[in-house]
Amino acid sequence: MAAGIDDIALYIPRLFVDSADFARARGLDPAKLKTGLGISKMAIVDANQDPACLAANACLKLMQKNKIAPKDIGRLYVATESALDESKALNSYVIGMLEQVYGTDSFEHCGGIECKFACVSGSYALYDNCNWIRAGEAEGKSAIVVVSDIAKYDLGSAGEYTQGAGSIAMLLNDSPRLLQFDSKVTSTSIKNEYDFYRPFGKETPIVHGQYSNLLYLIQVKKAFESYKKKALESKLIKLKEGETILDHIDYLCMHLPYSTMGKKALAYLLRREWRHLPRWKQIVEQTGMDEPAPRNPRGTIESILADDEYMGKDHEFTRLFTKTKEFQQFYDDKLASSLVASAMIGNLYTASLYLGLRSCLEFEFQKGVDLEGKRIGFGSYGSGSSAMVFSGVIQPAYRELVKDMNIEAEIGQRRKLSLEEYEEIHENRRGPHQSLLEAKKEFVLVNVEKSPESRGERKYAFYD
Ligand code: HMG
Repeated sequence: MAAGIDDIALYIPRLFVDSADFARARGLDPAKLKTGLGISKMAIVDANQDPACLAANACLKLMQKNKIAPKDIGRLYVATESALDESKALNSYVIGMLEQVYGTDSFEHCGGIECKFACVSGSYALYDNCNWIRAGEAEGKSAIVVVSDIAKYDLGSAGEYTQGAGSIAMLLNDSPRLLQFDSKVTSTSIKNEYDFYRPFGKETPIVHGQYSNLLYLIQVKKAFESYKKKALESKLIKLKEGETILDHIDYLCMHLPYSTMGKKALAYLLRREWRHLPRWKQIVEQTGMDEPAPRNPRGTIESILADDEYMGKDHEFTRLFTKTKEFQQFYDDKLASSLVASAMIGNLYTASLYLGLRSCLEFEFQKGVDLEGKRIGFGSYGSGSSAMVFSGVIQPAYRELVKDMNIEAEIGQRRKLSLEEYEEIHENRRGPHQSLLEAKKEFVLVNVEKSPESRGERKYAFYD
């Protein structure tokens, strides 16, 4: 049985920090953020927003746009790493909010959980819910998977310029109009790691930035190797002499903690795929240097990062490789459109990969490309760490959905924060009743209970 994404809706907070203002305030070169990391704006939540109301807002948009009633939904999952409680799942808050609009107990028949594995959990949630549909358990109902996060790092840290916030809701069913997932090729890798983690009670993560970058590349590559094997053995993809499987994937969507990470990941994968093909010789010639090899290829990530000579040469080779016409062509044709939204919004953790999908669809459509039948490959990564690689094919009915996609219009009028306002919100110096923006057709947080008997209970309201 088929399963996939029927439609997708997003909710992004309208407050933002401009990366050039931010860079100047922190004594950084604005070009480092704009060009080096590909960050132009970071979406920031208002004082009356949390990951639950972001998720409920995305979900409500999805339901209203598709005229779906709660009775049409069998499962509502929320994947997040910005959990509000150690026990109570985020989807229960979302159901509480949606029932303010659809009526008390209107979701009573529905099931679902909160999923956690850093940024990759949304992909696991999609996979599990697609299998629920494939198993014939859905009884004609759809599933909704919502990915919702607030990427927040310590003030003054290297992570601070890779923040963002927002939510994406995806409607899944057995006759998807947007994207049907390829079955039996989804592949994973997993390892106990401390590249990025957030211990209990800490609002911001502990991050080993350069370690996390390299681990992401390695883990995605491992999952990709397993995907390759499955796709070739199942004959989903057939290779001719001198080809790589990536020649048969029309678009790539990667997890995007910042937009240039997509380019880094593409360069890492292509180098390893093309290295064994006849085309490699003339590509290396264009770089004017030999591809460097690590002194200890089986060494730990720490030992590779500590090998300054290798890292320097490898960095230089990657830089030259990304300037070759073969790389540029691949990048422009298959990746660039998926990176546009990330630069406008920032890291959304679980939602970043799906913001990339949304961006790819919108900006490729705008180029006038016929997307029907195109295969999208996904590289999902979550710190801690696990990767998932999977693929899907764009369906004939995509046009009716994609023609109206406009991320800027969907976000609405944005308000730039001064650095003082941003720091006030970041340091939680404003309560829910001191929001900067007036709520319009959205759920907001109105109170967090402080009394000992109901500490932590959250109240939300819908403002029409
Ligand atoms: P950093 O040390 O500040 O930056 O950390 P850098 O020195 O690596 O520079 C970044 C890029 O800017 C480099 O480009 C520089 O060359 C360039 P590259 O060489 O790599 O292509 N640059 C400039 N370009 C133009 N003009 C200039 C200039 N100066 C430098 N003047 C880092 C960057 C991302 C590590 C940091 O921000 C960080 O720790 N972020 C948080 C962790 C993170 O995002 N890790 C990504 C991988 S792990 C992941 O994706 C999972 C995650 O989403 C969490 C989850 O799973 O839940 C984070």
